[in-house]
Amino acid sequence: MVIQKAKGCYITDNKGTKYIDTTMGSGAQIIGHGNPLIKKIQRQIKRGTIYTIPNNHTNVVNELLSEINPHFHNEYIFCNSGTEANMRSIRLARAYTKRDIIGRFHGGWHGGLDGFIDGEGVPDKTNSLFKILPYNDDKCFDMITEDMAAVIIEPVQGSNPRTNIKSFLVKLRRRCDELGVLLIFDEVMTGFRIGKQGGQGLFDVIPDLITYGKVLGGGFPIGCVGGKSEIMKTKDVFYGGTFSANPLTMYGAKLILETIINKKYINYDQLNFVGKLFRDKLNEFFTIENKKIRVMGCGPINRLIFTDKFIRNRKDRDEFESQNQIDFFDRLLKNGVFVNTNGIFHFSMSHSEKIINKIIEKINEIFSSN
Ligand SMILES: Cc1ncc(COP(=O)(O)O)c(C=O)c1O
Repeated sequence: MVIQKAKGCYITDNKGTKYIDTTMGSGAQIIGHGNPLIKKIQRQIKRGTIYTIPNNHTNVVNELLSEINPHFHNEYIFCNSGTEANMRSIRLARAYTKRDIIGRFHGGWHGGLDGFIDGEGVPDKTNSLFKILPYNDDKCFDMITEDMAAVIIEPVQGSNPRTNIKSFLVKLRRRCDELGVLLIFDEVMTGFRIGKQGGQGLFDVIPDLITYGKVLGGGFPIGCVGGKSEIMKTKDVFYGGTFSANPLTMYGAKLILETIINKKYINYDQLNFVGKLFRDKLNEFFTIENKKIRVMGCGPINRLIFTDKFIRNRKDRDEFESQNQIDFFDRLLKNGVFVNTNGIFHFSMSHSEKIINKIIEKINEIFSSN
């Protein structure tokens, strides 16, 4: 499938077929495609898209981020993707703690950096510096040890999005404090999406370092690292890059943060409402129809789980899920609804109640005819 254009919650492919988009740039387009902010960006294009030397928007973005996160240092590190932000965050954690090992959770996704992924081309030596921990499972706490620089976690994992994770995060915070291990929240997906303060705000757990991406770029590529002052001030850590903090992205970030602070085009109550509507109506339908399917989610981030059993994490999901998903997503596409291969539904401000009901109706049709 090749996309030609996008507007609101719709994408159109190169054959002219229009679909409801449920991925919205993997969660980045929280307002909708072709929104008013994107139009404003044209002003910056005329003034230049890349200087490499610092630009006047970056200070404003730092100020706006500090307004949202008063507990963090007032200067952030900017780069061009969530992967890069996480790479920089673990480098900073290693420099600050003078330790090498990084803990990461099974079922998590932090981008395509060696050590965050397994598979061909990643040296065993690199992987030996990462320890994989069980997510949402108290067994992980004894596996966190004093030789670790940091533990990185998505407060809500895209592979099994949920809201009932607070007590686990609180215990994780406590365990990291006991051992002087830094806690990094990867809020690339959750940041500015499940609320103005993302997962740290929703669960009231403050990490030592935080990473952002997606929504923060206002539709343009971004990565960002922030955190506690004493850590952010660590000397001699390298962060640079040709396109880092480029004026176009920083202008996009300034516009989206102003929008969030002024509640202009983004209303988190509305996003939570449509997410909950999607979960509640479908879960009721699947229960009545006795289908072994449920919807899990946190605010506007949702996914179908192909089992009716309670799943605690991705490991349970892999164990309990039946294998009929691929066919389902194909059929949904034929019915005019696009779902990304990662199975995550990211709703935006352009997904009205009517659109959500339409998606629900299409899903109902597919499973009623089964
Ligand atoms: C939680 C999380 N971290 C990191 C990344 C990687 O970000 P990017 O694709 O911008 O490199 C993603 C992307 O999906 C993500 O969801």
